[in-house]
Amino acid sequence: MVEIDIRQATLEDIPYITSIFRDTIVHINSRDYSDKQISVWSSGANDVDKWEERITNNYFIVAEVKNVIVGFAYLTKGYYLDGLFVHKDYQRRTIASKLLRIIESRVSINGYEIIKSDVSITALPFFDSHFYEVEKKLKKSIKGLVFENYLVYKDL
Ligand SMILES: CC(C)(COP(=O)(O)OP(=O)(O)OC[C@H]1O[C@@H](n2cnc3c(N)ncnc32)[C@H](O)[C@@H]1OP(=O)(O)O)[C@@H](O)C(=O)NCCC(=O)NCCS
Repeated sequence: MVEIDIRQATLEDIPYITSIFRDTIVHINSRDYSDKQISVWSSGANDVDKWEERITNNYFIVAEVKNVIVGFAYLTKGYYLDGLFVHKDYQRRTIASKLLRIIESRVSINGYEIIKSDVSITALPFFDSHFYEVEKKLKKSIKGLVFENYLVYKDL
């Protein structure tokens, strides 16, 4: 069992965070989305200003194994899980579960009794196994391309 450390993200983490974002989409989400969708979605890694803004203005945490970043998660609006990604070579080692547990405690500390997220088709079994309910199917547009996602929630 690997030891997983969680800490808050800093701006210096951006290159590691963005390469996990890009590689995970290309290698893991590509099971469920078209080449065009994968290319548009993963190009979000290049928008460094947006990642800076996310880290500066939100609760943004990273998971490390032996001081190497292997996953990340962040909240917007205090209760909305806006991103959860685990390195392609570290899938199914409980990293996302640990990140999610800490994110959920932060939502409670923020005074909310519900957490929400819109999640990929790929991630739905993970959220299902953590007792999230699907509120509805969503059509989300990224750079004009439509993605089918799921709006999920859990009462805390
Ligand atoms: C979804 C994701 C974050 C899960 O990360 P992870 O660290 O592999 O998840 P965990 O190891 O904590 O999984 C815990 C449990 O969730 C369930 N689960 C996770 N991934 C699953 C999958 N692909 N299929 C079925 N069940 C899954 C299992 O019950 C698993 O327990 P098990 O491994 O003992 O069977 C990861 O697969 C990922 O990065 N996906 C691509 C990015 C993404 O779509 N993010 C979602 C936001 S858009």
